[in-house]
Amino acid sequence: PLMPPAHNVLVVHPHISITPEERETILRSVEYNVFAFSAALVTCDFLSDSGTTAMTDVQWAAMLRGDESYGRNSGYYCLLDAFRDVFERGDNQEYLFRDVLAGTIDSRFYLNKFLKPQSGGFVNGGPVQLIRPNFFVVPQGRCAEFLLFSTMANILEASRASARATSSDTGRDEGLDWPPVIISNGFFDTTSANASVAGFELHAFLQPGLTDPFPIEKVSIENPFRGNLDVAAASAFLSDPQNAKRTALILLTITNNWAAGQPVSMANIEATAALARQHGIPLFFDACRFAENAAFIQTFERGYSHMAIAQIVVDMFAHADGFTISLKKDGLANMGGALCFRDEGVFASRFAPDIGIRLKERQIVCYGNDSYGGMSGRDLMAAAVGLHQVTQEAYLRNRIGQVRRFAQRLVEKGVPVLLPPGGSAVFLDMDGFFADCGRSYGEFAAVGFTLELLCKYGIRSAEAGPFGWEWDKKTSAKERDLIPNLVRLAVPRNVMTDVHFEYTAAAIGQLYMRRHTIPGARITRGAELRIRHFQSGLEP
Ligand code: F0G
Repeated sequence: PLMPPAHNVLVVHPHISITPEERETILRSVEYNVFAFSAALVTCDFLSDSGTTAMTDVQWAAMLRGDESYGRNSGYYCLLDAFRDVFERGDNQEYLFRDVLAGTIDSRFYLNKFLKPQSGGFVNGGPVQLIRPNFFVVPQGRCAEFLLFSTMANILEASRASARATSSDTGRDEGLDWPPVIISNGFFDTTSANASVAGFELHAFLQPGLTDPFPIEKVSIENPFRGNLDVAAASAFLSDPQNAKRTALILLTITNNWAAGQPVSMANIEATAALARQHGIPLFFDACRFAENAAFIQTFERGYSHMAIAQIVVDMFAHADGFTISLKKDGLANMGGALCFRDEGVFASRFAPDIGIRLKERQIVCYGNDSYGGMSGRDLMAAAVGLHQVTQEAYLRNRIGQVRRFAQRLVEKGVPVLLPPGGSAVFLDMDGFFADCGRSYGEFAAVGFTLELLCKYGIRSAEAGPFGWEWDKKTSAKERDLIPNLVRLAVPRNVMTDVHFEYTAAAIGQLYMRRHTIPGARITRGAELRIRHFQSGLEP
């Protein structure tokens, strides 16, 4: 069917003109690190879909209705309600649009909100929010990860210390159930960094076949949900009682950024939840791209084509005991994040009944008062509206359709692309790209490709392969084999037109034609750094 446009563009950012020679000079000055290259000099910026969203007129309007009070600003209440609406009720007709924007809400509205006790879900409200806090505003997703993992680790360490004190009395070895484990379908880089810094051992069970061929003709009618957790592998791991005892959390990343932005099916969410329940382990989502994931379920999973996105989201989250979210993705906001867990659910009972209080203490120490969490009140308003708008069907059709058409254009140029494309990005298969060039992983040929693309055409992408995933630091063949060789072109939300995609596909097509001439890259500084792609120096 024909797809009508989902929006008009009302604000325009013109590009300045710049030559490849000028870009080369700048690249040299920033040690060929694409993250350090000035955005003002980039023509098509596919570095990230995070925080790069063009906000809607309603979001801009709502920002003026926020306030910057130190305690309990209005945006805080709006965000709480947005979370209840979107993740628990599936109600998209919120007062934000009718009342906040029309200006008919007065302080009595907020007074009523404070007096009304609300509990049972992800967002305790009213007086309960003070006694059993379970919802935490933070500046971005990684702060939610830090808050969660560091607090869990503290609790686990304390209980281990007390168990050890007992074991030295009894002579029994209580050290076997250590270190604690987190299981996932794929950890994003900040997630794995935060979890391993906190002391967790990480096990990613990805569905095999991420890079298997998939016919382009089937891209709009089928999806193998390659972001799924390999439930059989996770179950086998947990069948060892020592492993089950050590496993503190199962974390489903939806969509699965590590696995090329691929979606997770509802069936997989259900199976994962059943596995988690069977072992009494809490199931959390890394929910950054929850709406895109819901759109994939609606389009491709049997039984969901007639269900509204809003309802699919509620059904997905009914299986979670808690979640972290970066509102910079499917919050349609430029900044923001949150952590929440189910009131009086398995998460609190597994770790500590007062874990919410401990999380809140850490939140206040690191990010300020709990009702702003490092955010300005106006930005909370933007995220509250964004959460509602991102679940609109027309928006999602446009979003997923744009990424899909981008992949199709690249395929038409003969460029090896991972198919089907995920929701937020197109990934180039760099093994396929350089297949006849005899490049070894140690040459970082895909990094060389990103430098050439930026220098010659002003198009910024990011390597997600041997360099980013630190192939050279892995000691076992098994770990090395797990690392895909990809380049990511992440598509900012509501920012680009089809002209951007045409230009980029043509540019990459030209580079593909002369792939033998593209130099690899060498790390000149900081190879040893953690998350080094943001920090290290390189040269072609
Ligand atoms: N989880 C996932 C799945 C992510 O993709 C990201 C960020 C985070 C957590 C952390 O959130 O940036 O708000 O702190 N991904 C961005 C990206 C940076 O480009 O993929 P954050």
